[in-house]
Amino acid sequence: MGEETLSNTEKQVLLALNEHGGRATPEEVMQTTDLEMVKVMNASSWLQSKGLVTMHEELRSHYQITGEGKRFLSRGLPEENVLQLVLDGVADFASLQKKTDDLGIAVGWLRRKGWCDIQRRDGEKALVPTEDGEKALASPLPEKAVLQAVSQGREVPDEQVLRELVQRGAVEEKECIVRTIMLTERGREAAAAGLEITDEIVQLTPQLIRSGEWRKKEFRPYDVRAFAPAAFPGKRHPLMQLVERIRRIFVEMGFTEITGGFVESCFWDMDVLFIPQDHPARDMQDTFYCSHPASMEVDKKLLRTIARVHENGGDTGSQGWGYTFSPREAERVLLRTHTTVNTIRYLAHNPEPPAKIFSIGKVFRKENIDSTHLPEFYQVEGIVYEEDADFGELIGILHQFYAKMGFRELRFRPSYYPYTEPSMDVEARWQGKWMELGGSGIFRPEVTEPLGIQHPVLAWGLGLERMALNMLDVQDIRELYLSDIQWLQRQPLL
Ligand code: PHE
Repeated sequence: MGEETLSNTEKQVLLALNEHGGRATPEEVMQTTDLEMVKVMNASSWLQSKGLVTMHEELRSHYQITGEGKRFLSRGLPEENVLQLVLDGVADFASLQKKTDDLGIAVGWLRRKGWCDIQRRDGEKALVPTEDGEKALASPLPEKAVLQAVSQGREVPDEQVLRELVQRGAVEEKECIVRTIMLTERGREAAAAGLEITDEIVQLTPQLIRSGEWRKKEFRPYDVRAFAPAAFPGKRHPLMQLVERIRRIFVEMGFTEITGGFVESCFWDMDVLFIPQDHPARDMQDTFYCSHPASMEVDKKLLRTIARVHENGGDTGSQGWGYTFSPREAERVLLRTHTTVNTIRYLAHNPEPPAKIFSIGKVFRKENIDSTHLPEFYQVEGIVYEEDADFGELIGILHQFYAKMGFRELRFRPSYYPYTEPSMDVEARWQGKWMELGGSGIFRPEVTEPLGIQHPVLAWGLGLERMALNMLDVQDIRELYLSDIQWLQRQPLL
């Protein structure tokens, strides 16, 4: 390890440890180096991460004198004081009471220690010293020796007395962490090789610049290889970061965002999009229908127009699907199965061109959960509505979008949606196979004409989670929703 990778404080700590024979407490290092505690601890953990020291922590309990203990030392123990009074001739309770606050406690201890008996004289209670009591105060009380030892952090001479003092609240047991910093073999070598403490500038301050002081000093060079601890600050969920990035890309490309609700009518989710009412996607197996409420009112006029388009094409020039449209089916309530519902409603309400609109939101389908399917997932939806919009432009937009998202290997395939013609799917290379990312196309006249839309509408609906698989290098789409904290911490900022 080159010397340039050690800061001055680190060097000081290494040298201090060396002076202490290779191991010391932070307090000792503090005294030797004249550094503040935080600096010592900071430097030590850096040294530890560089393999030059190790740090140990040990939980130790120790005894501490309490306020009561200190009073015992300065004013004597209650039994000591009362015994003194008794020996001095003040023996009856009434007189003793006047001279002491804690006569009860004192009497208790005097009897327990066998220093006094209680006798009645002339109907009055009085204390009479025993033989032991007569001698008890000839030498200092063992309690005081123990209290002194505790308060000076010395070894306690009598464990039994110590326990008693703990019970009496004069001493308490405290736990503390004792830290030791030790030089490793490499630390020893580094210290032995000698470390030069230079007067170097670690951080440039306005003072240093103003005073011109910086000219006379060395700057500590940056060490880009220096160890840095991993930091895990709070951040957004990777999927939400992805949403944010997609949002930025579309805004950059001149699009405006719209939103919508999760609960929709069949009418807006499917009928307006010319999805026949017997389409398999409408099946109970595929769509989540709501039962409260089970139906939802729909604009009657538009409903009639759309019914005719389904039945015979209405004024669109199409032959329609040739079945009898059910208004009741149209009014059923469901959880939106795609966000195309947002863009088509936008168009219905804003039939004047041009428009470049996008929407990012959750959709719901009764999918079996597996590594690439979820019953709830995000779609990235968009439309371009303008006079000369064409299929080439659609490919161009999707290409540009995915390129901005970092996708290299893409392919576009002919596909089918009841509401677009032509239709196209986007696929990306994932784990050696092509994975479908989403659908797109140009809305059919059966969709646009009843809404008063005169120009081509390019439309697409892309899966977010599948994009995430690629970008976050995740094997299984379910991992995105596991909330595995370690996985989340490791995710880069996108
Ligand atoms: N709505 C289609 C889906 O859910 C995607 C799509 C959107 C296809 C717009 C064509 C046009 O997969």
